[in-house]
Amino acid sequence: MKVVLGVGGGIAAYKAAELARALVQNGHAVQVVMTAGAREFVRPLTFAALTGRKVIGDLFSSATPDATLSSAVEHIAVAQENDLLIVAPATADLLARFAHGLASDFLTTLYLAFPGPVVLAPAMNTNMWTHPATQANLEALRRRGHRVVEPGEGFLACGMTGPGRLAEPAEIAAAVEAELHRRRDLEGETVLITAGPTQEPLDPVRYISNRSSGKMGYALAEAAAARGARVTLISGPVHLPPPRGVKVIPVRTAAEMRDQVFAHLQGTDIIIKAAAVADFHLSKVPQQKVKKTAARISLELDPTPDILSELGRKKDSRQLLVGFAAETENLPQEARRKLEAKNCDMIVGNLVNREDVGFESDQNEVILALRTGETIPLARASKREVADRIFDEILKLRLAIYATDEH
Ligand code: PMT
Repeated sequence: MKVVLGVGGGIAAYKAAELARALVQNGHAVQVVMTAGAREFVRPLTFAALTGRKVIGDLFSSATPDATLSSAVEHIAVAQENDLLIVAPATADLLARFAHGLASDFLTTLYLAFPGPVVLAPAMNTNMWTHPATQANLEALRRRGHRVVEPGEGFLACGMTGPGRLAEPAEIAAAVEAELHRRRDLEGETVLITAGPTQEPLDPVRYISNRSSGKMGYALAEAAAARGARVTLISGPVHLPPPRGVKVIPVRTAAEMRDQVFAHLQGTDIIIKAAAVADFHLSKVPQQKVKKTAARISLELDPTPDILSELGRKKDSRQLLVGFAAETENLPQEARRKLEAKNCDMIVGNLVNREDVGFESDQNEVILALRTGETIPLARASKREVADRIFDEILKLRLAIYATDEH
């Protein structure tokens, strides 16, 4: 495959030479792009010799004195010609400029023009790595679906010891292989996902809802689209940008969500119900705003349609149904009970009485209850990483189900 290796201006730039060699040994054509800072640490000749290609420097490189630096090259052409962009070391400055879309040199301009998968291998001083600004930039980049190769711990050039060391070149090269492979594994699949809360009106002004932000469902939609699936996202009211390459259908109530789910069920291969659907609603909503009186107000609430149960009854045997379970205790038991009761193939169980996972958080920690009887715990990670792991397990589960022809 064709890979662009972006080299940032950190002391770890010397290790990027070893990475370039590993990528070439893995059979890839490697085009190196160096920032001005990187060229202070390592001469372009090193990379030109390792890759057999001229190195790309500045955006307008006609002024470059070095013969191994190619002349002004269109960043668009480089973006279109290559299958993956790996940036190592990805400095704090590069992460910030990628996160905020600044295009102030060739590498950051290329990043904005690049439609394919991006792998980032950060390296920096420990305090810079742990700084909230860096971590916020990383979270934004993870939500975009970029794979981050976590820095290692250890002795740093600045004399400190702690996280921030560039991961080993072999580990980064392995992440590139995984990303290149993962790209293609959902192509041709049609995926239907629900996300966010529903709002059940009490009168023209008031409604019942819940704390779902939509992040988990949107991360699933982003992951599926990034891996080549055709994705429809039926979303309750949230404050998230529509994921790239995903058809978003906004709904408000459980009844509207149900109607849209069944309107899009035909031809769907994988259904994932991540939405926090209200269980109760007011079946007769007053036309006028309920006036505030001194008297207490009691509400007669009726159950909303149980969309997941109805899907369990109506889906055809080729369709894979994934439900969620939001619990505060007995998670494994409750997840397994819902799996059976609603005829799902997988239930993703998560605790929603913790601060660091569940509703609204950027991270989640789940267990997967599978129809094959297995229960797989996934360690706490960004919701995008959890989403990718869920799809990895969905693909394995479907193979296992068809192998036993149990479906
Ligand atoms: O959106 P975030 O802020 O990122 O938070 C993520 C999340 C916590 C909302 C998500 O991970 C999650 O747990 N979603 C399911 C929440 C929920 O409604 O769980 P439940 O155990 O009440 O429902 C079980 C399953 O039945 C869910 O798949 C739900 O979509 C579905 N359901 C529930 C009620 C209903 N009337 N119809 C349904 O289809």
